[in-house]
Amino acid sequence: MYSDTVMDHFKNPRNVGEIENPDGVGEVGNPVCGDIMKIFIKVTNNIIVDAKFKTFGCGAAIASSSMATELVRGKTLEDAWQLSNKAVAEALEGLPPIKMHCSVLAEEGIHKAINDYRKKNGLPLWEEKKTHSHDHAEDLTCEH
Ligand code: FES
Repeated sequence: MYSDTVMDHFKNPRNVGEIENPDGVGEVGNPVCGDIMKIFIKVTNNIIVDAKFKTFGCGAAIASSSMATELVRGKTLEDAWQLSNKAVAEALEGLPPIKMHCSVLAEEGIHKAINDYRKKNGLPLWEEKKTHSHDHAEDLTCEH
């Protein structure tokens, strides 16, 4: 059911933990399954130089946070903002349709962390575009 990449990132997640004195933190949750993801970023000269996460959630959410933190490291805030949940899922070589919503947490967590950084630095917040792709648009049902 899961790709080797998903299993790899689930079993050996990258960037687990907290950043001390983070420049931005984003916490998001899925009200349906109760899973929670917290993303920490360190920003230098508009570049995300470090990203870590703590996820209390399903395997797909853990793999998504691991991959998302890998993908945004070294990116400018603008580029990191463009990271969609679909791109995270693609980098994981796909997620089962019923698990696509788990990758949405990663996109939202990164967005919140970036906006937290922008708020702390007196910059205007960026607006969430509904970029997420759920395979079943309104279906947020989680099945563990
Ligand atoms: Fe809740 Fe995956 S995030 S089941």
